[in-house]
Amino acid sequence: MISRRAALGIIGAAPMVALAEQLRPSLVDAGPSLRALAEARGLLFGTATANFELRQKDFEFALLRDCGIIVPEYELKRDLTEPAQGIMDFSAADALLDFAHRHGMFFRGHTLVWYASNPPWLEPMAAAAPDERIFTDYIRAAVRHYAGRMHSWDVVNEAIEPRDGNGDGLRKSFWLSRFGPSYIDTAFHAARDADPSALLVYNDYGLEEEGPIFDARRRSALKLLEGMISRGVPVGALGLQAHLGAFTRRVDQRKLEAFLNEVRATGLRILITEHDVDDGGGPVDFTTRDRAVADASRRFLDVALDNRSTMALLTWGLTDRYLKPESTREQILRGTPRMLPLDATLQPTPMREAIAQALRGARKR
Ligand code: G3I
Repeated sequence: MISRRAALGIIGAAPMVALAEQLRPSLVDAGPSLRALAEARGLLFGTATANFELRQKDFEFALLRDCGIIVPEYELKRDLTEPAQGIMDFSAADALLDFAHRHGMFFRGHTLVWYASNPPWLEPMAAAAPDERIFTDYIRAAVRHYAGRMHSWDVVNEAIEPRDGNGDGLRKSFWLSRFGPSYIDTAFHAARDADPSALLVYNDYGLEEEGPIFDARRRSALKLLEGMISRGVPVGALGLQAHLGAFTRRVDQRKLEAFLNEVRATGLRILITEHDVDDGGGPVDFTTRDRAVADASRRFLDVALDNRSTMALLTWGLTDRYLKPESTREQILRGTPRMLPLDATLQPTPMREAIAQALRGARKR
């Protein structure tokens, strides 16, 4: 239980007393900090965030209470950091890094090479590019900018897509079309050249649940990682995004455990990088949705945190407050989605308790 004094210590001087009082019924009494529970077991707990969120003092308090690591949700993606070719601006992510380090938190980077969230000029330039410098120059600039201060980088994001029909299960992105499968290895070598210390992560989704397409994704991911390791590529970890579905999909605990054991056997670490649970596709009432979300999260975390190579758990947002319903109809019918540890008023959800329980039950690293 975080004491009121500690809470005030976190959020500063006496003027915040009123805020702490406002928060008292929700956060200060929400049980132990998730950061403390994680660190007691040699793990990190954190979340994706953005500068506009941190400007809200009640949210800042919630984040400081629960998080030991943060990642920019979108402010370190190339559409924002290089809007015009060669004109780079990392100021938004710099502000998040400064916030993290000011509060003794780790900071991770997301992402350097992705088929999405690129500036409009990039894809045509890549198609016409004479060589890989169209992405290695960016990688070197971004990674050098944060060298020595970055916990880990999602160097390549979402490069597999078995439904694209490639034998190796790779996504037919414009990167693959122009440079072939070697773009992935090249990206990791460029990142390592620029920062000898950051943990270099391959990050992807759809590796946790039941069904033939998830089986195919797990096979493709493992094949990619084993190949990279055999070629001496400096990949250090798999990032499991862990975007789950409460009513539409189900965690395959047996296959997930087997997959993570195979990843561990390669010597790679594992980070849970973007965990949330979609509450769509089920009944409208909050109690049923919250319960199903918490159960799905627990089913996943009991397996993922049991693997000793897992070192961090980040959710993709800490509160439902900043989530946008898919449509006006959804807003009318169901309101804001309920997918995260805190609801829109920063009240702890059953998912937060599921995470706390899973952290309590995790083996100490
Ligand atoms: O903040 C600007 C706003 O000023 C502007 O008016 C508005 C319209 O252009 O855009 C706003 O930025 C948007 C940002 O989200 C904040 O809402 C970007 O356009 C939009 O592209 C961005 O979407 C992000 C998306 O990735 C694409 O980058 C989402 O926040 C983010 O949750 C989502 O995250 C991805 C991971 O990176 C990869 N894994 C899947 C995950 C969920 O889709």
